[in-house]
Amino acid sequence: MKVKEKYEPELLFPDARIKKQVAVTPFLKWAGGKSQLLSELRRFVPSSFCRYVEPFLGGGALFFDLQPDKALLNDSNAELINTYEIVRDEVDKLIELLSTYPNEKEFFYKMRAQVPNDLDTVERAARFIYLNRTCFNGLYRVNKKNQFNVPFGDYSNPTICDRERLGDASRSLKNTQLFCEDYHSFLYREAQPGDFIYADPPYHPISRYSDFKRYTKDFFYKRDQVKLAALLRKLGQRGCYVVASNSDCDFIRKCYSDWEIHKVQARRNINKNGSGRGNISEVILVWPLK
Ligand SMILES: C[S@@+](CC[C@H](N)C(=O)[O-])C[C@H]1O[C@@H](n2cnc3c(N)ncnc32)[C@H](O)[C@@H]1O
Repeated sequence: MKVKEKYEPELLFPDARIKKQVAVTPFLKWAGGKSQLLSELRRFVPSSFCRYVEPFLGGGALFFDLQPDKALLNDSNAELINTYEIVRDEVDKLIELLSTYPNEKEFFYKMRAQVPNDLDTVERAARFIYLNRTCFNGLYRVNKKNQFNVPFGDYSNPTICDRERLGDASRSLKNTQLFCEDYHSFLYREAQPGDFIYADPPYHPISRYSDFKRYTKDFFYKRDQVKLAALLRKLGQRGCYVVASNSDCDFIRKCYSDWEIHKVQARRNINKNGSGRGNISEVILVWPLK
């Protein structure tokens, strides 16, 4: 990657940022989703940048809020990324199928038992959204064999097929490139000076109930947090705008000791079954441009 001597993003891509016409919100419920921190996060979004780069996409709250013109979006969850691809490219077929799925316990367990690789890509995306909208708390959790194992949520009237939101999401995703790999190879290969990177990894757990790291069959360990902070620092030094978020604890503050650290409050599930909510301190980490 070439190091720029003086960073002048506006000269590179004059109007790279916003194509926002309508407010768009995530079409998935996602543990650790950033919807309620948006007003805090917006304060740290640069006024212009080349491309929006998000290595841990999840529900994509900040991406949908900003609707950037050019975006590179990544997540290691293959079912999630397939769903985004179908929402972007085949939303009508997806809506047609999803709108036939009932909120019934028996149907839920039949869908849950299906093996994604036995389905076509539209069926896989419909299954993913269906399980997300009807399972307990919208959690995504798999066992060691990568089988989805969250129970039926038993909600009285969940929105399974939100046509309008899916249509808006599809339009927002039109000019995005989607990737499904580990954040490290993705960022190392793709990020360029002038890009805005927002990194929202599985949080370092601060209580014995915070289970934010369990999104896939792979865990995100302490050493992964250290490696992530080192890569983000390197990309900041090379001229990317970098913002990250994580839990507020000594370990994370140490990983980002030479960054701007902004403490914020978020409402999160605070007990084991996710039924209790409370305020939790989190940090927004901003690479200081020099
Ligand atoms: C805290 S969530 C992101 C939430 C998102 N910002 C939102 O608003 O919904 C973290 C995401 O990182 C993904 N992930 C976990 N380990 C990863 C890795 N090694 N590389 C890339 N993505 C990973 C998970 O699948 C999960 O979707």
